[in-house]
Amino acid sequence: MLIEAVIFDLDGVICHTDQFHYQAWKAVAGQLGIPFDEHINARLRGVSRMESLEIILEQSEKNYSQEEKEQLAGEKNRIYQSFLCKMTPTDLAPEVSRTLDVLRGMGLRLAIGSSSRNTALILHRLGLDELFDAVADGTQIKRSKPDPEVFLLAASLLGVRPSRALVVEDAAAGIQAAKAGGFPAAGIGGAAQILDVDFSIETIAELVPICIQGR
Ligand code: BG6
Ligand code: MG
Repeated sequence: MLIEAVIFDLDGVICHTDQFHYQAWKAVAGQLGIPFDEHINARLRGVSRMESLEIILEQSEKNYSQEEKEQLAGEKNRIYQSFLCKMTPTDLAPEVSRTLDVLRGMGLRLAIGSSSRNTALILHRLGLDELFDAVADGTQIKRSKPDPEVFLLAASLLGVRPSRALVVEDAAAGIQAAKAGGFPAAGIGGAAQILDVDFSIETIAELVPICIQGR
């Protein structure tokens, strides 16, 4: 397999913002008296804010109007952003930063492919605004993962064909999106166990030998 580029999911791969999503949704669900746990949370990984809300509201007997849903999603995002605003470059794991440097040093093109509309804010807080050759995110797409749109956009911004761009994901929806777009996929943590991935990794540093083999 020839690898020319790596497209990273953001939340749960580059940084631990997946935990902030969880805490923010838990607060909103708690206010509404709706049960919410890690199992339901796993279904929210990779999917858009409004789709996440719909999944949470499956546990409710009440019907919410569109206006109420927008208000709830807005409330979740306010809580979520209050966590994001406390992040600094020291929150970037040294292993992530090292791995990105090594991959760049190998001449690979690097991109972000995230469903998040907060991508620019997160990259800025972590001091990563300038690091990636391309950023495709939730503000630029119509269909979120498992649709491949965000990864196809990242590949096209990089000028690399999907079969040569390795997607790195922590979410089942993200791995499905990669496969649907014709990308090889590396699954990190739990997601790697549930779906058919090309590479199953525990830590991001394991990408280095994979990419060396793909040169
Ligand atoms: C994805 C997360 O990266 O972004 C999802 O895995 C989240 O859990 C989605 O719902 C949208 O995020 P945001 O920041 O636009 O609310
Ligand atoms: Mg993720």
